[in-house]
Amino acid sequence: MSIKRILSIALCFLLAVSFAACGKDDDSEESERLSFEYTLSDDAETTDDGTDPEDNWTANCMQETEPEEETIPEPTIESTTESTTESTTESTTESTTQAASVSTSGSTSETASETSTGATAESTSSSGSAPYTGAVRNGNLTSENGKYYITDSSTGVKFMIVNKTYPVPESYSPGGLTSECSSAFKKLVAGAKADGINIFSVSGYRSFSKQKSLYNNYVSRDGKAAADKYSARPGHSEHQTGLAIDCNSLSSSWANTAEGKWLAAHCTEYGFIIRYGADKISSTGYQYEPWHIRYLGSAELAKKITDSGQSIEQYYGIKSEY
Ligand code: DAL
Ligand code: ZN
Repeated sequence: MSIKRILSIALCFLLAVSFAACGKDDDSEESERLSFEYTLSDDAETTDDGTDPEDNWTANCMQETEPEEETIPEPTIESTTESTTESTTESTTESTTQAASVSTSGSTSETASETSTGATAESTSSSGSAPYTGAVRNGNLTSENGKYYITDSSTGVKFMIVNKTYPVPESYSPGGLTSECSSAFKKLVAGAKADGINIFSVSGYRSFSKQKSLYNNYVSRDGKAAADKYSARPGHSEHQTGLAIDCNSLSSSWANTAEGKWLAAHCTEYGFIIRYGADKISSTGYQYEPWHIRYLGSAELAKKITDSGQSIEQYYGIKSEY
């Protein structure tokens, strides 16, 4: 074989090897990228760093990719939050439609539509037995049509209690934030703005079916035990009551920002409490959520509970367990 022929065979061999190597690099890069994205996504949604997987998912994915299951009217009125926030589609929809879709009669429960009683709610409870009602510390706990209320002794304020022990019926649907809650939140946003602080909603009312879809996704991904630490089972979320709002950023470190500090310091003035405190995990049953505020209908009561340093469960001596 001539030297020329040997050289040409060697050249062909080298070319073939380098083509194969190029193809392998492309595959490896793609596989590494996907793996990295998956890891990033997982890291961002673990509960260890205090983030809320459920709400991250809601804010970042579901709102954009999944249509609302419930009928929510198009925004028809201007919202005070619109001009002051980095209005996401959801926050705009929430803050504008809730006031329009719920009667202004003021009562949270009476304005909501419902078609059945506690049967459905009980079916969402793993124990199957009805939760305790009667006298509790600092108040009285009653049941009405499958919903549960605490009447606070010192203020006389009556508010709906929803946690792992106390459900809300599947059929309960205010259709958005209640008018009172929406109005109080607008005032809170305006008060924050006056202090140079930008507070906005990233998640408000969620229907039973939306909560079910969220929760089931987390169970599929993380398992039931993990999901139960950050996501309420359907029929157990305060978001279904139209009395809870997630603000700004769904990360525990948001508590250390000017906005997070403002919310913690001032939300009681508008009748809200930070519902899931960092030091209250064992009583609430949920991880720290500095962004989740719960409307109690009374600034006096919100301040009283917050100043006590206790969760609702501790203050009234009630359980939050499945
Ligand atoms: N993340 C809160 C606990 C909820 O799902 O309602
Ligand atoms: Zn929340």
